[in-house]
Formats: sequence, structure tokens, C-alpha cells
Amino acid sequence: MTCASRGICLITARNICKEYCDASEKIVIFDNLNFTIHSGETIALMGQSGAGKSTLLHLLGGFDKPESGHIEINSQSISSMSDARLSRFRRQFLGMVFQQYNLIPSLTARDNISFVRRLNGLPAEDEFTRELVHALQLQDRLDHYPSQLSGGEQQRVAIARAIATQPLLILADEPTGNLDEQTAAQVMTMLMRAVALQQSTLLLVTHSPTTASYLDKTWRLEQGQLLC
Ligand SMILES: Nc1ncnc2c1ncn2[C@@H]1O[C@H](COP(=O)(O)OP(=O)(O)OP(=O)(O)O)[C@@H](O)[C@H]1O
Ligand SMILES: [Mg+2]
Repeated sequence: MTCASRGICLITARNICKEYCDASEKIVIFDNLNFTIHSGETIALMGQSGAGKSTLLHLLGGFDKPESGHIEINSQSISSMSDARLSRFRRQFLGMVFQQYNLIPSLTARDNISFVRRLNGLPAEDEFTRELVHALQLQDRLDHYPSQLSGGEQQRVAIARAIATQPLLILADEPTGNLDEQTAAQVMTMLMRAVALQQSTLLLVTHSPTTASYLDKTWRLEQGQLLC
């Protein structure tokens, strides 16, 4: 990894343009967006509903492509990777918490968490995952399927899955959005511990100033521009 230590440029986004078109209109989300994120930074991304926060995370994770512009992560161009290379890159490097969780419905909570570790050649469980499961208060829900879990429980499984491989980059879309204050505080404490342990880089979308206060800095997305 060329950008694994704190302070080195990890993400570079240059001239990103993104729009959505349907039959009647074109919505411009980003028009020439530029930014850099350094390795080890933890950044809260805030902004009104519809501002483009999830869109930005999907672009960075390679789940969506910009109309034009260039995204480099760890000196690799996300925008021009083949699907196979992108999958490998995500598996080895990225932990993603989606706003809609995206758990695999046919797997229990335990297997949703462990399958990403198995894909990376790690044992299904170790001391870190056991601590993670306890900190996220999932120990009594591990044998349940996503459809048997509450929204907040599914959200915590999604967080556990995203950090179970201790990835160098974590993109988290409103990871405390469905949680009560006390659980949100426990989740943020665990997430920040995992980030510190691995010196991961974290970009976390939130509407909560309390959640944002756990991170080094806050960026605001307004009218397609990042206010850093
Ligand atoms: N696939 C799509 N097709 C058309 N429009 C889309 C699509 N995905 C997102 N949009 C539009 O793009 C804009 C940005 O959406 P996005 O989900 O990124 O917002 P957000 O900042 O994450 O909002 P929220 O805080 O509500 O989650 C919205 O106006 C949304 O309706
Ligand atoms: Mg969103």
C-alpha cells in the first residue's frame, strides 16, 4: 500500500461531474468537484437531504461512475478499473456501510459479518470480531437473518461487516441514523477504536452534529460544492 501512513494523499477527486437524467429533467449533482483526503483522516460529511452525500460515497466506492472526472484511491484509478479489479480492490481495501444496509438476506448476521473475512482469507472470528460483536451488542442476534432484525440491529450488523476486515478506507453512510443516542455513542466509540487501531481513513455521512464531533473534521456538501 503506497498511502497507508497518516498524512499521505489517499483519495484524489479531480473535476468530478455527476448528473442523473430521466425523461423530463436532468439533475446536476456535482459540477467540477475537486478534493483530496489524506490517509488517516476522519471526516464527517454533512449536508441537506438530496445534496449528494450518498452519491459521493457510491462514486468513491466505485458503485457508481461519474460522467467525467477522475477518482484515484491509493494511487489507483477507480474510474477506469475493470469490474473484476474493482471487486478485488473493494474486498482488500474498503469497508462500506450503505444507507440501506445491503445485508445479504439469505445469510445470518454472523455469516454476513464473517463472509467478508473469509473472502480475505481471514478466520471467520477472532478476538477483534468478538469484541466488535459485543461492543455493537449483537451477541444475541448472530443467528438471526436480516428480515428478523430491527432496523437498528441491521444497521449495527452492516457496521460490523464493514469494519470486520479492518479496512484502510471506511465509507459509512449515516451509520447511526437509526440508533438511539446511547447506542449511537457506543457504535461511534467502537468505530473510532477500529479506525485508530488500523489507522484507517473514514468518511462518514451524518445529519447529527454529535456523531460528527467524533471525527477530526466536518465537510458540508452544498449545491454540488464541498465546503471544507
Ligand atoms: N439513480 C438515481 N436516479 C435519479 N436521481 C437520483 C438517483 N440517485 C440519486 N438521485 C438524486 O440525486 C440527488 C442526490 O441524492 P443522494 O442520495 O446522493 O442525496 P443525499 O445527500 O444522500 O440525501 P439523504 O440525506 O436524504 O440521504 C437527489 O436529488 C436524488 O433524488
Ligand atoms: Mg443519502
